[in-house]
Amino acid sequence: MASTKLFSPFKVGSLELKNRIVIAPMCQYSAKDGQMTDWHMIHLGHLVLSGAAVLTIEATAVTEEGRITYGDVGLYSDDCENAMKRVLDGIRQWSSMPIAIQLAHAGRKASSEVPWKGGHQIAPGASNGWKTVAPSAIPFREAYDAPTALDQAGLRRIRDGFADAARRADRLGIDAVQLHAAHGYLLHEFLSPLSNQRTDDYGGSLENRMRFPLEVFDAVRAAWPAGKPLTVRVSATDWKEGGWDIEATIAFARALEARGCDAIHVSSGGLASDAKMTIGPGYQVPFARAVKEAVQMPVVTVGLITEFDQAEEILKAGEADLIALARTVLYDPRWPWRAAAHFGELVDAPPQYLMSKPHGVKTLFVPPAE
Ligand SMILES: Cc1cc2nc3c(=O)[nH]c(=O)nc-3n(C[C@H](O)[C@H](O)[C@H](O)COP(=O)(O)O)c2cc1C
Repeated sequence: MASTKLFSPFKVGSLELKNRIVIAPMCQYSAKDGQMTDWHMIHLGHLVLSGAAVLTIEATAVTEEGRITYGDVGLYSDDCENAMKRVLDGIRQWSSMPIAIQLAHAGRKASSEVPWKGGHQIAPGASNGWKTVAPSAIPFREAYDAPTALDQAGLRRIRDGFADAARRADRLGIDAVQLHAAHGYLLHEFLSPLSNQRTDDYGGSLENRMRFPLEVFDAVRAAWPAGKPLTVRVSATDWKEGGWDIEATIAFARALEARGCDAIHVSSGGLASDAKMTIGPGYQVPFARAVKEAVQMPVVTVGLITEFDQAEEILKAGEADLIALARTVLYDPRWPWRAAAHFGELVDAPPQYLMSKPHGVKTLFVPPAE
């Protein structure tokens, strides 16, 4: 029996989690033509040995033009699916950690350079660049090429893309799907009045702005097995006057819950290039708490959660049900092991590494099965 919240088991839908530590999706910009490479085998391979409860595969584009960069992973073709299968088959030989995937469309923030080369937009027609699409023809930055406003056929194509990618994810044996409705990408662009200035049924009122993201949710819910969790990641605020905010996020969360959403992951920002964010330890926890007060489904918090006691306190205070880590676990993939050692809890480790238990730590690793 775990004595901490951080190491107590939890269920999201039917998916059993051994503890409360979630590895957040993290783009690696290391795919070729949407296809995972050996880098993903290395990167995901060490994260599945971390002892976290679930690993989330990076933002995975549901259409080719929905990639943030030319290096993004996609799940829009057989080649993409086969490349992902190779990586998953590889890492699953060595870990039983459940695997989730974040399905995404980058909208007007697509066609970008990889972050370590500046992350700026690549103009359509230039090498590695393409024309982007969005709810309205409003660029992310003034100097950028404006996206094409999606018409009905475009909306249908992307909605179908999400559903098809979910079917492929199911074929790959992936355990959970997360829809990316955060960080200024396509679904968030529909939600926010700053990026959505449509005059049809998909723009204007909050109900209209939520319409396309909810249609995508319904399409994926129908394509993805009822028994497997479907979750959504949201930005709780645009950090800008006149933008998407926590009240709208709560309305969206309630609408998702009513449609069978299994958990909501509360992040923030990414939509406005001139947003004024206030960043510090656990800076997004208050948003998670506000959503948690309004819904029954599990709530995930994320953002500068770096300390073991900090994570435990958030859970103990009932501010969130699960703790997601991104940079923290990239920097220190053994964070869950060290957290378990800190609290005297047990964590999964591969048998090859059992001898690494530090001197003086009494118990740490779950004994290997016979
Ligand atoms: C390298 C890197 C890649 C990221 N890629 C994604 C992504 O694919 N999808 C997403 O929703 N967020 C992405 N994020 C944001 C993280 O998931 C997380 O929300 C953010 O980094 C805050 O958590 P942290 O303080 O633990 O890093 C990324 C962050 C980093 C550092």
